[in-house]
Amino acid sequence: MSKVIIIGASTGMGKDLAKEFATNGWEVGITARRLELLEELSREVSGKWHIKKMDAGKHNEAKAALDELIATMGGVDVVVYNAGIGDSSGQWEKENNLLQINAIGFAAISNHVFKYFKDRKQHGQIVGVSSVASQRGSRMAIGYCATKAFMSNYMEGQRQESTKKRLGITITDLRPGYIETPMTDGQKGMFWVVPSSEAARLMYKAIVNKKDVAYIPGKWRIAAWALRNAPAFFWNRV
Ligand SMILES: NC(=O)c1ccc[n+]([C@@H]2O[C@H](COP(=O)([O-])OP(=O)(O)OC[C@H]3O[C@@H](n4cnc5c(N)ncnc54)[C@H](OP(=O)(O)O)[C@@H]3O)[C@@H](O)[C@H]2O)c1
Repeated sequence: MSKVIIIGASTGMGKDLAKEFATNGWEVGITARRLELLEELSREVSGKWHIKKMDAGKHNEAKAALDELIATMGGVDVVVYNAGIGDSSGQWEKENNLLQINAIGFAAISNHVFKYFKDRKQHGQIVGVSSVASQRGSRMAIGYCATKAFMSNYMEGQRQESTKKRLGITITDLRPGYIETPMTDGQKGMFWVVPSSEAARLMYKAIVNKKDVAYIPGKWRIAAWALRNAPAFFWNRV
């Protein structure tokens, strides 16, 4: 039985992705801060579940919790870093918290898991839930876009390291567009919106097919290209 751990699985895409893995016969480790929601999730779909409370913004504690979870599960094949928050307030305290969870929290876990697979000479997979927002800085969410650019850039480096040294560690960068989840609840101006369950189905497919990069859904690749290539004189005035 293959084993996956999802960090940030209490709501939204992380929760639906966990269900997708369980339905497909995987042993699933789920983590988040809200333990009661994880317990609820484990009762929704039958399967082999492991639950661990984790605050991804407390980096050393999060790594220790992950190690304990891996030990309980007797190993892991795929680790998904889905934990993330949004903020567009521009207030430093909030932005700093966002950086600690979305960017530094991701690097702490991803670095740790990379070493775990490398030390064991084990073929494994690290999945980061980045965003189409990784493609360009935006006044709408300055810190958030920067954290997603950080994630995608970090994963590209890890992928190069794994490929060059033939480590057999797959790095999958998932880049959703607008998805219906608690994070986007009430958000205005969204388009091409898909339900979280549909996004999770596409994410699962990209993970098992060991994609390097996947836009969720795929048509966001076009929008990402347009974002990346929009000239600065235009983008600065949007
Ligand atoms: N929705 C979209 O349109 C969209 C688009 C592109 C990318 N994304 C990305 O997709 C990911 C999932 O977002 P979502 O839309 O599904 O939002 P969501 O429903 O709010 O889910 C966020 C998840 O992250 C967890 N989390 C937040 N802070 C955490 C922390 N400090 N430690 C551990 N877990 C933490 C939450 O669990 P607890 O609060 O229980 O800890 C929750 O399980 C995020 O990384 C987000 O940036 C979302």
